Amino acid sequence: MNGELGKSIALAAEVVASACSLVVFTGAGVSAESGIDTFRDAQTGLWSHFDPQQLASQAGFAADPGLVWRWYMHRLARVEQATPNPGHQALADLERLTPSLTLITQNVDDLHERAGNQRVLHLHGHIGRFHCNGCQTPYALQPDDYASPTPPQCMLCLDYVRPSVVWFGEILPEQALNQAWRAAEQCEVFLVIGTSGVVYPAAQLPLIAKRHGAHVIEINPEISALSDVADVTLRAPGGEALPRLVAEVGSQLRKDRTA
Ligand code: OAD
Repeated sequence: MNGELGKSIALAAEVVASACSLVVFTGAGVSAESGIDTFRDAQTGLWSHFDPQQLASQAGFAADPGLVWRWYMHRLARVEQATPNPGHQALADLERLTPSLTLITQNVDDLHERAGNQRVLHLHGHIGRFHCNGCQTPYALQPDDYASPTPPQCMLCLDYVRPSVVWFGEILPEQALNQAWRAAEQCEVFLVIGTSGVVYPAAQLPLIAKRHGAHVIEINPEISALSDVADVTLRAPGGEALPRLVAEVGSQLRKDRTA
C-alpha cells in the first residue's frame, strides 16, 4: 500500500489483527456517507441550522411538542430511506473476523444492525423507538403518526409520546453505558470512527480505554477532540478507510493461519 494513508492502514491492521478484544466506537460521521446529516460539520451539521435546546431537550418539547415531533418524524423518514454504506458493511465483516468485538454507537439510526453487526450498544437511544414522556410506557408507531402535526398521546396517561433518544440533560441508558464502560476497560484495541468527541460521557470511553492500555485508532477525515489520544490515525472518510482496513486485517489473519 502506498502513501501516508496506506502506511497508517497497514499499521492499524497489524494491531487489529493481533487483538483478541476490540471495541468500535462510532459517531454521526459513520452514517454521513449514507446521507444522514452529522451534528457539528460546519455547513451540513444539524446543529449548524437547528437549535438543540429547542429540538432535543425536555424544555423544548414542553414549549412546542409538535415542532419536536415533526423534526424527529422527518429524521426518521431519512433514516428509513438510508442504506448502510461500505463503512458499516466493513464493520459487520470485522465482527465476523474478530474473536470479540463490541460496537458502541452514539448514533440513533439502525444502520449498524442492518449491515449485520450482532451486538450494538446504543448510548443515545433509537430514533425508531418511542415511549410516553410521562409514564415511560413503550409506544408502537402507527402509519398516521409520520404526518401528524402533534405527537400521539399515551393510551394510559394521555401524556405525549416521544422518541426514545437521549436529549440534552438526560441520563444515558444505564445498562448500555455500563457494558460500554466495561468493554472500554477490557479491550486491547479501541477504534474511534466519525465522532467529534465532544459529548460526554460517551467521549470519555476512548480515554478510559487508553488509560487501561488499549491501542486507540481514529478514523476521521478531520481532526477531532480525541485525535490526541489516538496512537494511529486514518485521515479519511469511513467509507474509504474501513473497507481497506478490514480487507488488510483479513489478509493478515489468513497469512497468520497459513504460517
Ligand atoms: P458530530 O457531528 O459532532 O461529529 C461528526 C464527526 O464525523 C466529525 O468529527 C466529522 O469530521 C466526522 N465525519 C464527517 N464525515 C465523515 C466520514 N465520511 N467518515 C468518518 N467521519 C466523518 O457527531 P457525533 O460526534 O456523533 O447526541 O455527535 C455526538 C452526539 O452529539 C450525537 O450522538 C448527538 C449530538 O448532539 C445526542 O443525540 C444525544
